[in-house]
Amino acid sequence: MVGVTDIQRAVQLLRGGRLVAFPTETVYGLGADATSPMAIERIYRAKGRPANNPLILHFADSETARRYVTDWPGEAVKLAGVFWPGPLTLVLPKVKLIPDIATAGLGTVAIRVPNHPLALELLRAFGGPLAAPSANRSNHVSPTTAEHVREEFAECAAAGGAEENEPAMILDGGACEVGIESTVLDLTDLIPKILRPGKISAADLRRVIGVVGQAERVEAGVARSPGQQEKHYAPVTPTYRFETSQRGLVKPDDHGLVVLSPLRVFKKWGSIIAMPNDPAAYAQHLYAVLRELDGMGLKAIFVEMPPERAEWGAVRDRLIRASVPFSVV
Ligand code: TXA
Ligand code: MG
Repeated sequence: MVGVTDIQRAVQLLRGGRLVAFPTETVYGLGADATSPMAIERIYRAKGRPANNPLILHFADSETARRYVTDWPGEAVKLAGVFWPGPLTLVLPKVKLIPDIATAGLGTVAIRVPNHPLALELLRAFGGPLAAPSANRSNHVSPTTAEHVREEFAECAAAGGAEENEPAMILDGGACEVGIESTVLDLTDLIPKILRPGKISAADLRRVIGVVGQAERVEAGVARSPGQQEKHYAPVTPTYRFETSQRGLVKPDDHGLVVLSPLRVFKKWGSIIAMPNDPAAYAQHLYAVLRELDGMGLKAIFVEMPPERAEWGAVRDRLIRASVPFSVV
């Protein structure tokens, strides 16, 4: 259990420009005072994250969040009313108070109100915005438990990394409920556009604000070649994906490989992880399963893709980023 004193200590550390990892409903975040360039610099160092990848700012409520953007359009009013606190991030024009380093020099900022009691308690006690990317090293799988966060940063502690650039504290709020990162929606264009799919789907958003577009790479997902592939959220073990129609071509047993299958257990494969046949439950467990497999020293991981249907969109997006397409050589 996290007590009041833990929150107070976390707030003190954050005010001192240190990093504190905290749970959200999606994944664990690596938090820093969003108004301090020095603290934000530490996030980039701790993660090994390229400076051109902007951060998400977290707020205790939408009234506070809107003070950090110069435009609060009708869509934002509606979406915040329906989905906040929750796994939706909105991109809007930023105020000057937010340092450029937080937004990679962009004139826009990504903001959200997370739906997790500990995160909200921390944000209220801190009284300002916390910049928090997922609490993993850059390009690794996002953490969904406090233990995952410890694993991520144990290595850099062992390597003798400068202590102040590592998380000074990890607030443990158990396993994350959603399991994959928030939906990111850009509200700076004429037509709101999904930049990253998540639990809140395009259909959910359309019900509230009407027209919603999708960034091309999200729609095109399947057709991307491995070379162009954005490597993100990926295990270290080579990970291959295949569609159910390719089952006949994949013989993982020959190589002692493991297959993640969303639907049925396919008898001729020995080592199968039967993932839930429900997008929300699948998402909740996905990163923990990938991490576990990654720790097993396997030669490769094979993933049978869930059906190409809208409700599986966010899970397929993360799987596509984590893998390369299987092809018969
Ligand atoms: O669920 C989440 O969103 C988690 C938890 C901790 O809140 N955070 C998270 O942060 O996933 P991160 O840094 O791993 O991902 C931030 C995403 C990136 O895809 C980034 O490119 C996008 O948000 N982003 C941030 N600021 C942006 C901006 N101004 N314009 C467009 N995209 C932006
Ligand atoms: Mg991330």
